[in-house]
Amino acid sequence: MNPESNEERHPFLKGLSKHRGAPPTVVVIFGASGDLTARKLVPAIFNLGIDNLLPGEFHLIGYGRKPIEDEAFREMMDAAIEEFSRRPLNKEIWERVRQNISYHAGGYDEAAAFESLAEKINRIEQDLGRDMQRMFYVSTPPSVFEPIIKNIGSSGMAQAHVHTKLASKVIIEKPFGRDLESARELNQAINGVFEEPQVYRIDHYLGKETVQDLLVQRFGNSIFEPLWNREYIDCVQITVAESLGVGSRGGYYDTSGALRDMIQNHTMQLVALTAMEPPVSLDPESIRDEKVKVIKAIQPLNLKAEGGDVVRGRYTKGLVKGEPVEGYMEAEGIPATSTTETYAAMRLAINNWRWQGVPFYIRSGKRMARRASEIAIQFKRPPGILFSEGDKFNVAANTMVISIQPDEGVTIVMNSKIPGLETRTQPVKMHFRYSTTFGSNTPEAYERLILDAMVGDSTLFIRGDETEASWKLVTPVLKHWEECGAHGLQEYAAGSWGPLESERLLWERKHQWRRSG
Ligand code: BG6
Repeated sequence: MNPESNEERHPFLKGLSKHRGAPPTVVVIFGASGDLTARKLVPAIFNLGIDNLLPGEFHLIGYGRKPIEDEAFREMMDAAIEEFSRRPLNKEIWERVRQNISYHAGGYDEAAAFESLAEKINRIEQDLGRDMQRMFYVSTPPSVFEPIIKNIGSSGMAQAHVHTKLASKVIIEKPFGRDLESARELNQAINGVFEEPQVYRIDHYLGKETVQDLLVQRFGNSIFEPLWNREYIDCVQITVAESLGVGSRGGYYDTSGALRDMIQNHTMQLVALTAMEPPVSLDPESIRDEKVKVIKAIQPLNLKAEGGDVVRGRYTKGLVKGEPVEGYMEAEGIPATSTTETYAAMRLAINNWRWQGVPFYIRSGKRMARRASEIAIQFKRPPGILFSEGDKFNVAANTMVISIQPDEGVTIVMNSKIPGLETRTQPVKMHFRYSTTFGSNTPEAYERLILDAMVGDSTLFIRGDETEASWKLVTPVLKHWEECGAHGLQEYAAGSWGPLESERLLWERKHQWRRSG
């Protein structure tokens, strides 16, 4: 190999990626003309460039079925930066990235197109005079995941370089299957070509700052963890609410629904991080081992109509933030026979030493009153004899609310004496707001995730057994709903907090959903 590095030949690249040391990388994005590439991936790459976190030698190849000229693809990416980047266009930095962007047209099951892709990558390496790690980003509909993986394998691109050992990696967007069986099949197909450490399954919730902060809040402080168990906690409520409807994604969404789209992955990750045991270290496998363990400890759900653990709903027309909006069935691309849920809530029982008897209530829905994702830890009330005479002296349950979005922060609700000559109490809030303390321009989830994948840190990615454990829990629910059809599908008005039936899940245990915000 030529000892002269690209940094020596191009002094402006000096210093790029010093911080976390990503090796020379070529990223291939499958599904390059899609929405995610423009909205998230390329803006994230550009922002990593601004922060000096891209490797000195960085190439991006867009792969898609549509024939597009290199320069036309670059122009599409220019527009993407203009429209979606977190920070404004910096021409000098963008130009450094842009000059190494190209496009490769081909079908996903077209072996010859993968062969020519491999040749293209070889040529880039020859021109640079060094090996590069290859990162394959699969951002396509799931129907073509398997052919893509297979073709990467048969064209020899999944192999690490013999001498430099520079790896080949695959990043996969959800959905990882539609149920337990298909998730297992997909994992087998992936693991037939890539070893598990080469695989990065994305759940973008893990890239969110507040979600990462959950580990710091729990294990970087000594005041919470001693209380984090069934002795002190009454219940946990996790809400991932969206005010948006399905928009133009009806075609996809109707084949998915809230359980597959949000609960099986994002919400379950929040459960795992909230409930897991302290890992022995912060290395990826230790953290992922603990997450799998706790997901496996969740008991099978009771699916009975009466007293069961799950509720599903579908929004009808209503008012969101004062504006009238249509119902799910009126949205574009929804078949008249649809029985897809746009809301799901569950009561989980985690049967382990720490959590036995503490219900975890989780819910996620579209077209809810407002966008709010939070984890609320509700503590047990103090013994009531001192402040509980009549209404005046009632104390509220202490609650710690980790707000994931949109007002990122942590709030602790506690009771305080109202100033005055009588002893009257009132719940008060202690707030920590990210934006106040750290400013509001924090990195987007995809910036962190792409960087982590480049430097080989898989902590924030989902391991194969983790996704299977989560599917194992929800697959019986999906099957049950399929058998029931529309029976049991509750309606809720857009702009509300979901179907009334979801209150029952909590009432039965003398709890009540927190009203977010
Ligand atoms: C995606 C779902 O994974 O997450 C979408 O497919 C959902 O339906 C989105 O809207 C929510 O992400 P965020 O980051 O806006 O909460």
